[in-house]
Amino acid sequence: MPSPEADLEDLAARIRKSRHLLVFTGAGVSRESGLPTFREAQSGWWARYDPMKLASAEGFLADPALVWSWYRWRKALARAAEPNAAHHVIAWLEKRVPRFTLVTQNVDGLHARAGSRAAIELHGSLERVRCCDCGAVFPWETAASEEAVPRCPSCSGRLRPDVVWFGEALPEAALTAALAVAEACDLCLAVGTSALVYPAAWVPQMACAAGAALVEINPEPTALRSLAALSIARPAGEAFAKLKALLDDVSG
Ligand code: OAD
Repeated sequence: MPSPEADLEDLAARIRKSRHLLVFTGAGVSRESGLPTFREAQSGWWARYDPMKLASAEGFLADPALVWSWYRWRKALARAAEPNAAHHVIAWLEKRVPRFTLVTQNVDGLHARAGSRAAIELHGSLERVRCCDCGAVFPWETAASEEAVPRCPSCSGRLRPDVVWFGEALPEAALTAALAVAEACDLCLAVGTSALVYPAAWVPQMACAAGAALVEINPEPTALRSLAALSIARPAGEAFAKLKALLDDVSG
């Protein structure tokens, strides 16, 4: 009978041998920081609104003040949250494997706060805002005014959160970089994602198709389960805390 830690020992052995580790994260990596996953974020007062309206260009055009109040609520949640063990150990791994790339679908900024550098942010970030007219990008604090719909300091156009909305293209450079890493890595760790939203969900699938071993960490089965060489059905924070203990001998 394999030990209850056999799954994590298997993953630790794979990481020790990896020459290029790709970590692909979704909202589940921030659950133990207390942040709802994307679909849970419609809870409470927001349940009356369709996320397609709150996270879409059409919704913003129809009611920019409502969309801003929703994102200000999400930003306040993200700011009040703390990175959990998963964020911290992913940042720790970055410095301890020969080559490491983090690709995230999350906009909450917790990977950067845990020390991850150069994360590829496929869906943008709540750390930034962008002008709808001139396209200039500013830190989120630029929109901290009480204005219902903050204005661009450069051209006075309307500002929006610098995140990808439903129906919008992903930042081309980020997607191109993520798919290139998927082709090059030898181990892909998919953490806390339902892998249902495209084109982001191509990343772990392309890694697998290019010959990388795919490992998923998610308490629930996902669309990746049939492709995964190893599925670790544990919460990410718990799994990474145990994984670090197993890897502590990895120099770096
Ligand atoms: P989802 O809400 O679709 O999936 C979150 C996944 O995390 C689920 O499979 C959960 O089972 C899992 N999960 C929950 N708690 C967990 C934990 N403690 N540890 C590990 N996993 C856990 O979120 P995403 O897959 O990130 O796009 O969704 C992708 C995209 O859908 C989002 O980026 C957003 C949305 O449309 C945009 O905003 C463009």
